This record gives sequence, structure tokens and C-alpha cells, in this order.
Amino acid sequence: MSGPVEEAVTAPEAGRAPAPWHVIAVASGKGGVGKSTVAVNLAAAFARTGARCGLLDADFYGPSVPLMTGLRDGRLRTGADGRIRPIEIHGLKIVSIGFMVPEGEALMWRGAILHKVIHDFIHDVDWGECDYLIVDLPPGTGDVPLSLHQAIPFRGALLVTTPQAVALADATRAAALCRELGIPLLGLIENMSGLVCPHCQGHVDLFTPGGAQDLSGQLGIPLLGRIPFDPQIGLCGDLGVPPVLARPDSPTASTFREIALRLTRQLPAVAA
Ligand SMILES: Nc1ncnc2c1ncn2[C@@H]1O[C@H](COP(=O)(O)OP(=O)(O)O)[C@@H](O)[C@H]1O
Ligand SMILES: [Mg+2]
Ligand SMILES: [Zn+2]
Repeated sequence: MSGPVEEAVTAPEAGRAPAPWHVIAVASGKGGVGKSTVAVNLAAAFARTGARCGLLDADFYGPSVPLMTGLRDGRLRTGADGRIRPIEIHGLKIVSIGFMVPEGEALMWRGAILHKVIHDFIHDVDWGECDYLIVDLPPGTGDVPLSLHQAIPFRGALLVTTPQAVALADATRAAALCRELGIPLLGLIENMSGLVCPHCQGHVDLFTPGGAQDLSGQLGIPLLGRIPFDPQIGLCGDLGVPPVLARPDSPTASTFREIALRLTRQLPAVAA
């Protein structure tokens, strides 16, 4: 069947102009690999340098930015001009699909409605002046990245993976989708890539090491960093303060800052 719904989803948006900001998608092949953790902490790392940074949580099937930023009860408000105001916290402007539905409630939006909500997220939100807009995508391959890319072209995408073979295989699929959509791949981030022993500070591998390094070679994209498994990430996430801000002196925070720096160095290579 084809009709207005399918057309709305697949037709490129008329007159879409490249955003003056760096719109960066954070993608992964599967859930639970740390995509939201990376999105929130990279955004916080940018904000910490004084950059104006927006964070859009477009994970329709499991928005976790509200919890990770201390905004569980956050609700979107509309200004007198009828435009949606992002919630400002931790130096970030945040909009999450989670601000529109009560926690724990399932979202069943599909097709044209999904497309419309995504369009509104970009065009009806008063993002103001931004240097970066970090977008937390749902895992896998679906309509959301496509609709977003039509509403506002991504400058590039970051792929997050864990070192396990299954996650790497799914990351390969996510990379293929990005390439199909014409979204440049900015780099790969390996998360949970080993454990720092709390007793002796030694490095302990959790999975067979080297997979993300190999994948970055196969995909021809840089490995921007390896984030260790750090219990503080989970704890800070539950407390609603990104570890980059809550524990700025930790090795984990400096790893996120290094990744943010490497990312900015990658951007000129994909400049529109
Ligand atoms: N490097 C890490 N060390 C410890 N816990 C982590 C790490 N990365 C993510 N987590 C935890 O794992 C869970 C899944 O991470 P999340 O960022 O929500 O993944 P995704 O967005 O890919 O589904 C969260 O509870 C998060 O706090
Ligand atoms: Mg997530
Ligand atoms: Zn030890």
C-alpha cells in the first residue's frame, strides 16, 4: 500500500537547509550498549567547555535522558510564541520524548504521527543558538533516524558498541544504515571495554578485547575512545548528574572529554 502516509515518511522535506549547528546522532545496533550514557556525557563535556549544546532524546522506545539528567518529572512547556521550550539543566538544553509520556507507558507511534512528532522536535522547539545538537537515537535501524535526517540533516553519526561479537555485528548494520541514508560516520566508541579494578586499579577485560579496533578498521572510521566499565556511570546515571559533571576528576570523565575533543577534530572532514 502506498499513500499519503508513506509519502510523508519517505519524501525529502522541502527546502530543508543545513542547520547552522553540528547535529550529531548517537547510534547503536542494539540497546543497552551505553548510547544514552555517551550522548548525555558528550553533551555535558561540550557544555563544560562553554559550547552551547542541545540534547534531543529521540529514543521513542526507551527514553532514558530524563532519568540520567535528573528530569524524571520533566514536562515540556510552550512559550507565549507557541514554541516548545527545552528544559535547561547541567548547562544543556534538553528535549526528550520522555517529557511527553509518563514513565513506563509504551509508545506506539508509527508512520506519519512519528514523522510529525520528530519534525516538531526540530522545528517547533525553540533551540535558540546552539553549537551542537546531540541526538540520542533509538537502537537499531528504523523510521526515526530517517525522519530526523529529513527534518534536519545530521552532520554525522557516532556509533556506540560494546566489545562483544553480537554488539559489533549489530554496529555493522547500524553503520550500513547510516551510509544508506548518507549520514557520515564520525567514529566508533567502545563502551564497557574492560573494568578498572577498584582494588589495584589494574585493567580487567570483560570481553574478548580488540573487536572495536578491528571494526573501526573494517568500517574505515576512527575509534574515538574506549570507555571502561565504571560503576560510577550507573550510580551517576541513577542520581541524574552525568559523571562528566559529577566526577570531573575521574578517569571516566577525562575519557569522555577526550572523545569530545577527537569528535570536534573529525567534524571538518564531514563539513557540509
Ligand atoms: N561504561 C559503563 N560502565 C558502567 N555502567 C554503564 C556504562 N555504560 C552504560 N552503563 C549503564 O548501562 C545501562 C545501559 O546504558 P544506556 O546508556 O542506557 O544504554 P543504551 O542507551 O544503549 O540503551 C545504564 O544503566 C547505564 O548506566
Ligand atoms: Mg538509551
Ligand atoms: Zn585488582
